[in-house]
Amino acid sequence: MENFKLEIDAEGIALITFDVPGRSMNTITASVLEELGELAHTLKTDAAIKGAIIQSGKASGFCAGADLGEMGSGSLAGGAAPQDADAALKAGFERAFALNKALRAIETCGKPVACALEGLALGGGLEIALCCHYRVIADNPKIKLGLPEAKVGLLPGAGGTQRLPRLIGAQNALMMILQGEEKNPSEAKGLGFVHELVPAGETLAAARRWLAAKPKAVAPWDEKGFKIPGGGPFTPGGAMTFIGGNAFLSKQSYGNYPAQKHIMSAVYEGLQVPIDAALRIESRYFFKTLQTPQARGMIRTLFLSMQALAKGGNRPKGHAPYEINKVSVLGAGMMGAGIAYVQAMAGIETVLIDRDQASAEKGKGYAKDILDKRVSRGRMSQGAADKVLALITPTADYALVKGSDLVVEAVFENRELKAEVTKLAEAQLAQTAVFGSNTSTLPITGLAEASARPKNFIGIHFFSPVDKMGLVEIILGKETSEETLAKSIYYVLKIKKTPITVNDSRGFYTSRCFGTYVTEGAHMLAEGIKPAIIENVGKMTGMPRAPLEMSDDVALDLAWKVRSQARADLGSAYKETPVDGLLANMVEKLGRYGRKNGKGYYEYPSDGSKKKIWPGLSDLVAVKISECPPELRDEYKKRLLYIQALETARCFEEGVITSPRDADVGSILAWGFAPYTGGTVSLMDLMGIAKFVAECDVLAQKYGPRFTPPALLRDMAAKGETFYGRFADNKAAA
Ligand code: NAI
Repeated sequence: MENFKLEIDAEGIALITFDVPGRSMNTITASVLEELGELAHTLKTDAAIKGAIIQSGKASGFCAGADLGEMGSGSLAGGAAPQDADAALKAGFERAFALNKALRAIETCGKPVACALEGLALGGGLEIALCCHYRVIADNPKIKLGLPEAKVGLLPGAGGTQRLPRLIGAQNALMMILQGEEKNPSEAKGLGFVHELVPAGETLAAARRWLAAKPKAVAPWDEKGFKIPGGGPFTPGGAMTFIGGNAFLSKQSYGNYPAQKHIMSAVYEGLQVPIDAALRIESRYFFKTLQTPQARGMIRTLFLSMQALAKGGNRPKGHAPYEINKVSVLGAGMMGAGIAYVQAMAGIETVLIDRDQASAEKGKGYAKDILDKRVSRGRMSQGAADKVLALITPTADYALVKGSDLVVEAVFENRELKAEVTKLAEAQLAQTAVFGSNTSTLPITGLAEASARPKNFIGIHFFSPVDKMGLVEIILGKETSEETLAKSIYYVLKIKKTPITVNDSRGFYTSRCFGTYVTEGAHMLAEGIKPAIIENVGKMTGMPRAPLEMSDDVALDLAWKVRSQARADLGSAYKETPVDGLLANMVEKLGRYGRKNGKGYYEYPSDGSKKKIWPGLSDLVAVKISECPPELRDEYKKRLLYIQALETARCFEEGVITSPRDADVGSILAWGFAPYTGGTVSLMDLMGIAKFVAECDVLAQKYGPRFTPPALLRDMAAKGETFYGRFADNKAAA
């Protein structure tokens, strides 16, 4: 075996060390799966073996679960369509069942098997541990145990949905599995899915002690009279779990995530039958889930692409690593303060500049507040927090910029001011340093005109709140060099964010596409659709917030300002829509700017009680549609999602974005585009471009030319292409 080392000692204890060659972390590959089967056979048939201990040979932990890269290429690549659908289904099931079969064989090998965990066990890794008769774990609160499959649209397919509820009850298990929650060792012991906690480095000795006591080699569920903790589905407690669980799920996810429904079903059905049948039920649901576009999209975007981007997958090749030790941030407002904090957390010496010392200090105060919270919650020591804070130097003196490897400019959104601070900072900078602007709307090429070194000038667009948002949109100006891009990506990775790269354009990629969602909500309102319908349908699409409430958050006066600017720029080419009239009324006539002045599409009671849709809206636009049968609901959902995907397609057509991977990841991380779709590009690719185009044509007929598919999409539809195929930067992950 290449992945497991097996040594049998004088007492007949087989020490099995899991150590996948050439990897820093164990994952379950096809070859691991095969060898688990071999191991089970050896344990059962080798008379010299009296008991066994499974441990990891990696310092990084026990096992992080299935190799999603391999699983992805095996089942996502598409391949030739199966000739015989029945045979293909059977073969698929057998593949899905193979790991369950191997682990069940270990569980029933007739010899006691312990698992000694010195580090993390996630997904399939925890499922291996769960098939052992005894689990002992190092008492280190940093160790993570969990079944995170649901986070990538999958369900635990190696016994997790069956063994965990049989150990800790259906309710606890469902909470863990549906949300992909991780537990630390003492929580796991408390819940009852590990048996013993010992100091780090002593798990092996503890496992030996357990074996020395000649334990039974049988899982609790294989013993006569076994009862599910908290009761099975037909006991009063168990029934409540499933009734409440289904209601909770519908409220949370509106049925958008097949994996979640399948997890509920697998647990519900599986707990009614003996474990062997239960494992087959689980494998059926696992295979069914794997076939869904949601699982394909989510695995690709939320796992494979995210992982590739975190490793610098979109960094141009051939540029030496750029050491980022010191970075100056210009502007200590909301964004600058957040950027200074994340930099200091990454160990970067940070100069935080504002117009005067007091404003700069205030910006540093933001970092102090977050750090104080971390300390008070026990997530950081005071000493460590002090060290982070000491890395930020607040000042009004541009001389301190000297020696910076990079500058992030985050002053007011004003072209002249930005030009002025660019010059002030550049006067202090080395020729090799990068100047990044965090502008949210001003084209980078224009801002670079103020720079003496436009090659080093780039857009580094953060999202608010900076400490929570994982994405950074990097924008290339016309003259930005490849080297500057490479350096900027080193910077973004150093502060532990995910970079995507786009070309210069008004609104860049993220703001431009996201904007279509809130605008579509306004179109619907202007058409006379009852606001509550718009909001409910919006939530059903899987977007994090409904369109009208999102409009209020972004601010209606800002939307009006952007429109007015566009009208001024485009002159007679500007096409008025009913949304212009609506916004003019709201902003100009009624002074309703959104959440920021407590008056928008919603009203925000001053006593802090829950916001309500503003009743005056119906006077402004008469309600014409106050019923929403399912066909209409589905059509509205499409409007709200497709409009964003269409804008993404236009961005590809115009060369604003060129990478499907960046577009998908960006759409989910920047504006929370319905994650189950895998992103704006995967939505189109996985339903098929031809079908998407046909449905958009129908919407265009009914709702207007903004739904007319661009020529690029028609061409792709005619050729049967996908984005991941046509713009193939992402072959490895596709
Ligand atoms: P803000 O108004 O909170 O902060 C701007 C800061 O710049 C203020 O503290 C101000 O005193 C300072 N400043 C003005 N003149 C200066 C000078 N000569 N030297 C140094 N500092 C000076 O604004 P916010 O929201 O932080 O935005 C900053 C930039 O980030 C803008 O370009 C904005 O478009 C962009 N942005 C904003 C986002 C947001 O959600 N607020 C998201 C992404 C980008």
